[in-house]
Amino acid sequence: MKPIKKPVIAGNWKMYKTIAEARDLAGAVVEGFPGVREATIILIPPFTAIQEVRRTVSGTEIAVGAQDVFWEARGAFTGEISPLQLREAGCDFVVIGHSERRQYFGETDETVRQKTLAALDHELIPIVCIGETLEERENGQTLDRIRNQLEKSLFILDESGFTRVVLAYEPIWAIGTGRNATPEQAEEVHYFIRGLIASRYGKTVADYAIILYGGSVKPDNALSLAREKDVDGFLVGGASLEAESFLGIAREALRAVRD
Ligand code: 13P
Repeated sequence: MKPIKKPVIAGNWKMYKTIAEARDLAGAVVEGFPGVREATIILIPPFTAIQEVRRTVSGTEIAVGAQDVFWEARGAFTGEISPLQLREAGCDFVVIGHSERRQYFGETDETVRQKTLAALDHELIPIVCIGETLEERENGQTLDRIRNQLEKSLFILDESGFTRVVLAYEPIWAIGTGRNATPEQAEEVHYFIRGLIASRYGKTVADYAIILYGGSVKPDNALSLAREKDVDGFLVGGASLEAESFLGIAREALRAVRD
């Protein structure tokens, strides 16, 4: 039997929103989604707005995350933010290894590994992003790339660590391009990921693993993607910047599990 999992809908606001705008957006999400317990909603604002968003969602089921973290708890690391500081600011989740960080800021599978370990040490739930470039997809290297990323950054974790990680498959060619993976393309990779998890940690861990899809998710493609067996929710960029589209996606994800 397929385990019953709550869909996870996470909004990665990237480098958008002032503190005041973040408060308004979080407030609108709270209003539009009162007391829903069947889904896990995570708002991921820029660092400067984390505390404000935390305050705005307090008393609700909505969780807050950060977009990156450093692997040390404290020290002379100018410009970095530690897991300890994220916990204090009110984060439960942290995105690690987003393709924009890999592309522009030199993030590697090794730094993803270090950051994931640090996050787990401080009881932050890592949302670890993996995904292939367009060139890799066109050369038939998608699955190799995914396997490689998982082996280098995550499969070094023991079972108790791994079961606290959320995965996000984000094909780079689908991010911010308006060109989402088709449900079949997403399912192929999610199924492959679950299979790799099963070989490393066993079937039960694989069945309960949460694998999100990210890349041009919108209210009008969310239902068909969410209906795929191995798609457990979404990591949303552009469409999370407006409450209406973000809530629309969340409703479609819920519809997929209720149907
Ligand atoms: P878009 O939804 O804007 O394509 O971004 C996806 C993403 O990068 C989420 O982390």
